[in-house]
Formats: sequence, C-alpha cells, structure tokens
Amino acid sequence: MNEITELYDLVFEFEQRNNLTIWKNPHEEWSRLRNVGPVHKTSMLKLFRGEDLSTREMDTTQPCYQVVTYDEAMVVLKNESVFSASAYGESMGRMMGRTFLEMDGYEHKSHRHLVQSHFARKICELYNEDFVRPLARKLIMRLAHRQGGDLVRSFTFPLSVLVITKIIGLPSAGLGSLVAWALGLKAEDDGEWGREKFTEIIDRRRGEDSQDVIGTLTKATVDGRRLSDDEIISFIRLLISTGTEPPYRSLSNLLTGLLSDRIQLSSIKNDKSLIINAINESMRWEPPLTWVLRTCKEPTEVAGTKFTKGDLVCVNISSANRDEKRWSMPEKFDIYRPYKPHIGMGGGVHTCLGQHLAMIESKAAAEVIVERCPGVHIDMEAGRPEIVGRGFRSPRVLPVRF
Ligand code: HEM
Repeated sequence: MNEITELYDLVFEFEQRNNLTIWKNPHEEWSRLRNVGPVHKTSMLKLFRGEDLSTREMDTTQPCYQVVTYDEAMVVLKNESVFSASAYGESMGRMMGRTFLEMDGYEHKSHRHLVQSHFARKICELYNEDFVRPLARKLIMRLAHRQGGDLVRSFTFPLSVLVITKIIGLPSAGLGSLVAWALGLKAEDDGEWGREKFTEIIDRRRGEDSQDVIGTLTKATVDGRRLSDDEIISFIRLLISTGTEPPYRSLSNLLTGLLSDRIQLSSIKNDKSLIINAINESMRWEPPLTWVLRTCKEPTEVAGTKFTKGDLVCVNISSANRDEKRWSMPEKFDIYRPYKPHIGMGGGVHTCLGQHLAMIESKAAAEVIVERCPGVHIDMEAGRPEIVGRGFRSPRVLPVRF
C-alpha cells in the first residue's frame, strides 16, 4: 500500500515539474470561444499553453483545429472514416507502443475486441462485489481510523490503481514500480528494466490457465497470429494508463463537487439513488480528460470550417459538455439536472472501453463514503480544494476530516 501512495508522489512531482497544475480555470476561455463559433484554428502549443484566445492566429509548426461545441464534437467523433485516431501514435504511442487507441477501422475493432469482455457491464458488477467495494471500504476505513487525510492520495488514486491492476492480473509484489514504469514515470534508462519485468510476467503466464487480461492476451490471436510479448506489453500499458488516470481524477472531481456543496451531499445521503445522477453530472461538469485528438483523412467541412487531409482536430470534451445550447447554467454542478447524454467518456467507436468499470468504481466509492463516514467534510484548515489543469483536470489534493 505504501508503494501505491509513493507512486502518487511520483505523479504529483511529474505534474509540478511540467507545470501541469498552474491552469486553474480554462472554462472561461472555452466559454468565450463557444460564443464566437464551434471550430477554431489554433496550434497544439497554444492549446497546451492556454493562449488560445484568437480565432485567427495559428502556430505554423503544429496547426490544429479545436472543436468546442457539442453537436460539432459529435460530428467529428462519430465519423471515423474521415477522422482517424492515428494522431495518438505521436503522443501515447511513442511511450507505450502501438495500441488500439491509435488504430482505425477493422484493426481497431479486432484489437479492442480481444479485451472487451473484461470490461462488459455484467462482469464489472461481479468485480464490484468481489473486490471493488471491499477495497473501497478498506481504504476509507483506514482514513477514518486516522480521522481524515487526503482523499486523492489515500483513496481515489490507490482505488483506481489496485482495481485495474487486479483486472489485468499483475502481481502485488513490486506493483508500484511496474505501474510507474508503465505510466512512463521512471527515468529513461529504466526502459529495459520494465520491459524485462513485464516479459517475465507474461512468460510465466503463458502456461497457466488464468482468467485475467494477461491470461486472455497470452492466448489471443488476430487474424490467426498470436500477439508478441511487445504487443501484450503495449496492451497492458494502455490499460494501466487509461484505467488509472481518468478514473481517479474523475472520482476526485465527483467528491470535490459533492463535498463543496453540503445540500447536495446531504441529498445523496438521504437518497442513494441520486449517486448515479451525481456521477453522470460530474463527468459532464468536469471530465478528467479534456481533449481527444483526431487527424483528418480527406478534405471535409464542419460548421463551415474546411479541413484538409492531415489536419489535426482536437475535440474539446470539457467545452462541449458545457455547451449552453444543450445545458442551462452549464458551469453549475447540479445533481438534480435531468440527464442528457454527454461526451465525458468520448463518443463513436473509441468511446471509453472502461465506462462500466468507471461507473461501478465511482458508485462503490461514493456509497462507501456516505455510509461509513456520514460526517465527512473538507478540511478547510488545509485549504479549499481546487480542480486544476488543462489536458487533465482534477484536484491534486482533497483534504478531509471525518
Ligand atoms: C471516469 C473515468 C474515465 C473517463 C472519463 C474516461 C474517458 C475516456 C475517453 C474520453 C476516451 C475516448 C478517447 C478517444 O476517443 O480518443 C476513453 C477511451 C478509453 N478508455 Fe476511458 N475513461 C475512464 C475510465 C476508464 C477505465 C476505468 C478504463 C479501463 C481500462 C478505460 C479505458 C479506456 C480505453 C482502453 C480507451 C480507448 C478506447 C478505444 O480507443 O477504443 N477508461 N476513455
């Protein structure tokens, strides 16, 4: 367990070092963009630096279009034959190798299919009873014993890491180092260390009949061909990364929203069926992942803006989820809001593979907190929690007292 909280220190240091936490509220900027129009020419550099206030300026080295409204975001996400996911090859792919996140068409479908059954709704319900809820209970009772602490470091982060690594089938010995390597948090010269460790684990599992993701991948074939060790390692890295970062941040956003509003918090204590509304609303209000990327494969047009082949298109999920044409007072976290589909989990063929797991994990976590710690409140002496960041948004600390 210490290993996992130390792992969070590595994540935290990485974010500080790369200035990822200095962006407090990009929503005002995105709201101004929505008022101007659905699509904006910009550059990757400006997107990440937050200087994206002009609709005309562009960085010639990395041109990019940003889509900021809901209907237009859906046009891009749903049109896989024109908008390819291949751009991830340059970002995530460089670190973890080629994965189905960056694939299109048949190749994407056949690779995603290999692990799909491990994330189906029914199996996630079994995980819930088997280990998700017991783990959430154990983590929260440990904090309650100490009368409080940081919910991110000691609850949402360890919960997400321990759940996804159990589903994948990683050994608990040395788990922190394996995950740190998979997430690219280890120094460059540790590259071979991680590859060797994962290869050893995969080799040991080839002869076994295990039911977890590694067991499935060692037996899997695509078009009659078995996956290589490197391909399996890339699969595992993708699942560790997507199964850790978005869910722990999303759960932290949900808890920030609830704990910052005593009336809504007491509503869910009195009526636990509202927890599902609260989860959906938090994923609309502050999705942890703010952008998804696509590359235009042929000339096309969205809302009057012409794209040519090779143009990068950034779908701003966070902005689309606050589109005033679809939600009134979109900046408000309101668990009583009537549900309307949002794109916090993406859309189209790349819609989040872990969507049922994320719902179940968030539900178990929220239920355990209201059941076991009815007096939970923000520790104001430690400061009001803030959701920060541009590419990833969440509070980096969430200090509470019971
Ligand atoms: C609340 C938590 C989560 C959020 C907000 C979230 C969000 C997203 C989004 C927006 C995408 C679309 C990416 C794109 O279109 O380019 C995505 C894809 C994906 N997510 Fe999640 N995710 C969450 C939890 C999880 C979990 C628990 C897993 C478990 C492994 C997971 C695995 C994946 C994978 C593998 C993909 C790629 C799917 C594909 O390319 O076909 N996610 N997620």
